[in-house]
Amino acid sequence: MKILVVGGGGREHTLVWKISQSPLVDKIYCAPGNPGIAELAECVHIGADEITALREFAQAEEIDLTVVGPEVPLTMGIVDTFQAAGLEIFGPDKAAAQIEGSKGFSKDLMARYNIPTAAYQSFTDHAQAVAYIRKQGAPIVVKADGLAAGKGVIVAMTEEQAIAAVDDIMLDQVFGDAGASVVIEEFMDGEEASFFAFTDGKNILPLASSQDHKRVNDNDEGPNTGGMGAYSPAPVVTDELHQVIVDTIVKPTVDGMAKDGCPYSGILYVGLMIKDGQPRVVEYNARFGDPEAQPLLMRMRSDIVPVLQACARGKLEQDSIEWHDKAAVCVVMASGGYPAAYEKGLPISGLDDAAKIDDLMVFHAGTALKDGDIVNQGGRVLGVTGLGNSVRDAIDKAYVGVKVIHWENVHYRNDIGARALNR
Ligand code: AMP
Ligand code: GLY
Repeated sequence: MKILVVGGGGREHTLVWKISQSPLVDKIYCAPGNPGIAELAECVHIGADEITALREFAQAEEIDLTVVGPEVPLTMGIVDTFQAAGLEIFGPDKAAAQIEGSKGFSKDLMARYNIPTAAYQSFTDHAQAVAYIRKQGAPIVVKADGLAAGKGVIVAMTEEQAIAAVDDIMLDQVFGDAGASVVIEEFMDGEEASFFAFTDGKNILPLASSQDHKRVNDNDEGPNTGGMGAYSPAPVVTDELHQVIVDTIVKPTVDGMAKDGCPYSGILYVGLMIKDGQPRVVEYNARFGDPEAQPLLMRMRSDIVPVLQACARGKLEQDSIEWHDKAAVCVVMASGGYPAAYEKGLPISGLDDAAKIDDLMVFHAGTALKDGDIVNQGGRVLGVTGLGNSVRDAIDKAYVGVKVIHWENVHYRNDIGARALNR
């Protein structure tokens, strides 16, 4: 069969790599892809949000299954467009993608179905939002309702910070329309974990546990990023907790969406805060995590293609996934300066040497080809992912890879996976 993967980051390189191992697959296209993906798939010059052009391409090439990586095309309705054209596609439709696209939508869903999360209130009026912050006190969390490229959440340690955030979002509209409404919620402390489940809208197929590192610097210091590294399994998610998450969060979410008339199919990403063994939802995403997909898919032994196809068809009957009995750790190598401004176009050395290392994959994210050289092009550039018999071994393996790769101003954390070792 022919598969089209939409997107061009580390998550999509990992999806393409995993899909390429399936005996069911003859040809993979990726739009727009990146230089790493180009080694495994034919890259097509169509942006991930050019939905009409993607649909036309899929029809012309007779694509059997399209797999969507990023959230933006999902919230724009790529799934609705493809389905209306009779094309098979993996991911939630526009209505269901609101679970990520609108914080208010997801908070109301959780409230309706008693899914554990932080107490909250939504506001469209600035004065009322400020009054609520004054009444609740700090710490408190302010969230723009819509998608804001991962920057719309402000964890405020003082009332003044929270009010400044509300001013930025509602008065100065720094996130545009995404800030027409804000959610203000209780600050939760604890340990974060990411939980993923495939679903066809009714049945669920949970993945192994994983955790990412959001802050840019060691010891979880500095600003939040898309994720500086990730590992799987995550020891904070014990077998018992895994079941609690499925029973009290994942199942009620999928059932609730179906009951509300917008069944969710695709992969559901639940961001969790765990305190004293009790999980609460921080947020939902409508897609795979990046970089959580890198360690998870490296550990996945089962063929992913039948699972993607079954979700897209509403016929997910498989009830378990086989995993390699190994741990995986992904260290993100980023452009110096990220998540703020950074220099682009710097040549990257050592990729050929890294490719010779066993049990190591270098997934490309923000890379580009310039005069025959691979150069940095985005904030997160590479996801160097190692497999090992333990998290310790996988960390060591990933850093062996990191040490042979270099470019000017490269930045990465030295403590990816340390939280897992501390347990
Ligand atoms: P989100 O964009 O919703 O993933 O939020 C980004 C990050 O903000 C999360 O990964 C958490 O670290 C933090 N965060 C969001 N909501 C809360 C909350 N209610 N309490 C504490 N931290 C939060
Ligand atoms: N790793 C965080 C995300 O994918 O949103």
